[in-house]
Amino acid sequence: MACAGEEVVGCVASDGVDVITVVAVRDSWRGRGVGRRLLQETEGLLAARGADRVTLGSVDEALAFYRRCGYTGRWLIQVDPRIADPSAVIEMLVDGVLAGHTVRLSCWEGHPQLWLDEPGDPALRRRVESVSGVVVQAVMQKTFALGTG
Ligand SMILES: CC(C)(COP(=O)(O)OP(=O)(O)OC[C@H]1O[C@@H](n2cnc3c(N)ncnc32)[C@H](O)[C@@H]1OP(=O)(O)O)[C@@H](O)C(=O)NCCC(=O)NCCS
Repeated sequence: MACAGEEVVGCVASDGVDVITVVAVRDSWRGRGVGRRLLQETEGLLAARGADRVTLGSVDEALAFYRRCGYTGRWLIQVDPRIADPSAVIEMLVDGVLAGHTVRLSCWEGHPQLWLDEPGDPALRRRVESVSGVVVQAVMQKTFALGTG
């Protein structure tokens, strides 16, 4: 937690290994470096424990903040698990709206998913999300320089 006297002005949470799960700063304290400091403290702690990078999922509104703090992003493209044939949806994406883009296919708990280096193109994102059952989330990552921590 970040505190100003008795007041809690921000908080951060992590799995203690290499993922940050929460960063939040009280409205009236935003834009004053509290969020960056919370990230830096957590990154230092995780690096000292041996992490070589830190990863987090971001809401769209926080992407610029994470970029300012040295994070780069990728899109994680997932298909609603209730869809009967998710592989067909993935194939349709790769051959359709994502044709010409470099994508990486991975699998999470048996569900196929795609990774795309964040092209910063909201129109492309909208086209991907317009495919029924498809969800896109920004995943931000920062790699630590050797010797950090
Ligand atoms: C996102 C959040 C944590 C940022 O905290 P903050 O204390 O305001 O951020 P800082 O003051 O440390 O900002 C660090 C840098 O990011 C920039 N920044 C912060 N918020 C920004 C925004 N919404 N858009 C663009 N830039 C932003 C700052 O201008 C600063 O830039 P600098 O490098 O020029 O100094 C805060 O706005 C928040 O709590 N939002 C609601 C919760 C949330 O969205 N959390 C993230 C969930 S993924």
